[in-house]
Amino acid sequence: MKKTSRYGFWHRNLHWVIATLVIGALALVELHDYAPRGSALRSDMMYWHMQFGLAVLILFVPRLIVRLTGGRPAIVPPLAWWQSIPARLVHWVFYLLMIGQPIVGLLMVQAGNHNPGFWGLSLPQFVAPDKALSKQLGNIHVIAGNVFLWLVIIHALIALWHHWGRKDNTLRRMIYSK
Ligand code: HEM
Ligand code: HEM
Repeated sequence: MKKTSRYGFWHRNLHWVIATLVIGALALVELHDYAPRGSALRSDMMYWHMQFGLAVLILFVPRLIVRLTGGRPAIVPPLAWWQSIPARLVHWVFYLLMIGQPIVGLLMVQAGNHNPGFWGLSLPQFVAPDKALSKQLGNIHVIAGNVFLWLVIIHALIALWHHWGRKDNTLRRMIYSK
């Protein structure tokens, strides 16, 4: 397969690094409920949920740049319009969630009068403490986070269906390193 038939190097690597961080953030927040209340494990899991989420926010910038400047290799054999339009839509919803979800999370936590920092660095306070605002942002974050979770599951299953069911090059375009 020719090099041009795949996503670019940075595009592929950023896709998988961000996917790992998003899946990590989701797994940590979903599993933290099983750790005993008040335990160090429970708060560590939430701490790393936030750090993974903030890393997604930082990596969103190069990700968007490579997406807007790089090409989108063709899927062979091509999809029908009713398959490719929803797929494109979900991809742009992912971009919205990759930037929106960590921002809402950070503002929620800061409005709740906490500042998690970013991988050991202190972060500016973007919003004044405000319990009501924190609660509202929390509701948005939980709903959007669950939408994110289900879209990731559907997206991954469809990617596997392309590979093993439809037997096209969709997944190969995103994985080969050369
Ligand atoms: C890709 C980024 C992120 C994703 C996918 C994500 C996802 C989620 C999800 C699904 C929940 C709800 C879990 C449940 O059902 O109870 C949640 C809760 C939470 N997230 Fe995030 N999150 C992200 C980033 C962040 C960031 C950057 C912060 C803070 C700096 C944060 C702080 C929190 C907190 C404090 C909760 C608990 C909220 C509550 O129980 O009311 N998240 N997150
Ligand atoms: C976990 C978070 C994930 C996010 C946020 C995500 C996001 C995206 C986005 C936005 C695209 C569109 C191409 C682009 O602009 O980069 C894409 C493409 C793709 N993703 Fe994911 N992805 C995730 C996980 C996965 C997983 C787990 C798989 C495989 C099992 C996967 C397989 C693919 C494939 C094959 C494509 C190419 C589809 C196409 O070009 O039509 N992704 N992903």
